[in-house]
Amino acid sequence: MENLEEKLKVIFTEEQIQKRIKEVAKKIDDDYKGKTVIIISVLKGAIFFTVDLVKKMKTPIMLEVMQVSSYQGTQSTGNIIVKKGLDTDIEGKDVLIVEDIIDTGLTARFLTDLFKIKHHPKKLVFTALLNKKCARQIDIEPDFYGFEIDDKFVVGYGLDYKGYFRNLPFIGYFPE
Ligand code: IMP
Ligand code: MG
Repeated sequence: MENLEEKLKVIFTEEQIQKRIKEVAKKIDDDYKGKTVIIISVLKGAIFFTVDLVKKMKTPIMLEVMQVSSYQGTQSTGNIIVKKGLDTDIEGKDVLIVEDIIDTGLTARFLTDLFKIKHHPKKLVFTALLNKKCARQIDIEPDFYGFEIDDKFVVGYGLDYKGYFRNLPFIGYFPE
């Protein structure tokens, strides 16, 4: 993995990511107009984005986490399992789900369905740092997102390959 890191091609630098997150935070703030929102960070990938996003938001927040899993290596299996469910009551609340990336859309659909059926928020909003629109298998769009990317497998800033590379401050991919 150490050697692989040298081969990475940077798509978004740390500065670009932080600048864009500031813009997304502003858009979210404008939408909530000071109402409290429950942030649900989807572990593990979204941790990095969530932390930087909420620090840049002015909207009062409460932070919750949950964990789902669907990926094996570089492939989405479509077999989504909840590894850690929500352990707080969010019924009737404003909820913002924070994801690292929307790829096929299967996880986003799974989560939105799960929340509607089981948790009954007042309003459910979805945000992702990255949007791989061209890889979508399900017709679903995040309400807010940072960057649109091509159908490449990316790592860094929370995104992993077999658990590695999450702590890179930038986002990159491995050229063929
Ligand atoms: P989806 O269900 O196919 O939309 O995939 C969502 C999840 O797959 C994300 O939350 C990531 O954990 C993972 N994922 C999708 N694309 C990538 C990628 O390019 N790099 C790393 N993880 C990815
Ligand atoms: Mg994820």
